[in-house]
Amino acid sequence: MVLHARLRLMTAVLVALSVQIGAEVSYASQTSDSMQFTLGRLFRASAPPPCKVGDAPTKMLGAGGKYAVLDTNLRLPNGWQPPNLIKVPGGHQLQRDAASAWRRMALAAADAGVKLHIASGYRSATHQQTLFNRNVKQHGRAHALKYLARPGHSEHQLGLTVDIGLSQGALLRAEPRAGTASTKSQRAANWMRDHAASFGWVRSYPKGMQSKTCYGDEPWHWRYVGVEEARAFMASNLTLREYLWLKR
Ligand code: DAL
Ligand code: ZN
Repeated sequence: MVLHARLRLMTAVLVALSVQIGAEVSYASQTSDSMQFTLGRLFRASAPPPCKVGDAPTKMLGAGGKYAVLDTNLRLPNGWQPPNLIKVPGGHQLQRDAASAWRRMALAAADAGVKLHIASGYRSATHQQTLFNRNVKQHGRAHALKYLARPGHSEHQLGLTVDIGLSQGALLRAEPRAGTASTKSQRAANWMRDHAASFGWVRSYPKGMQSKTCYGDEPWHWRYVGVEEARAFMASNLTLREYLWLKR
């Protein structure tokens, strides 16, 4: 699985950089040793750095932050505000495109008997700070850093991200699974796995990937990247952080 993802990442790197590195690759291909060296160097250069807690500025803030990588180190500038925030059901806000994609997705899910609602949408830096502080108090700093972004670091501040609820106070906590889904949460998880990308939504923090995503698994947390990017992302087999990093 890991090897597969690495090979895909290398392929994506080569495609993305083939123009710039044409000469280098053709030279490197003369010996397998130097080819391996070049691929290794490109892989390291094109994979995000190991997760750390810091405060480095993120890039790619055009397109309303659609391609911005946010993690425990990379953050939005102070005062950055998403464009075109509009109200969505439940008293939350999202950027306009994300809001209409959410509406379409929720309707399709409801048609299939799966009720989805927004438990959290856009969050200001101040709100994020409150949530982070509360979590530190309740569970300690290590737990808070695993499940909550510090202010400036949250995808919720982009206005392109939702936490999905199933009913009041109950987040979508199930991991998608093969076989017949017997609980509401399992049905919702499986439906999202099968359909979310066709509405432009992707999962940021899958299970078992904390070393790459920088956060613990959050089945409820979904980011809107648009239909085209969501499909390309699904085909890439990368985590969202790795995928967006390639676009910098
Ligand atoms: N729970 C995610 C990491 C956030 O706070 O944005
Ligand atoms: Zn979230």
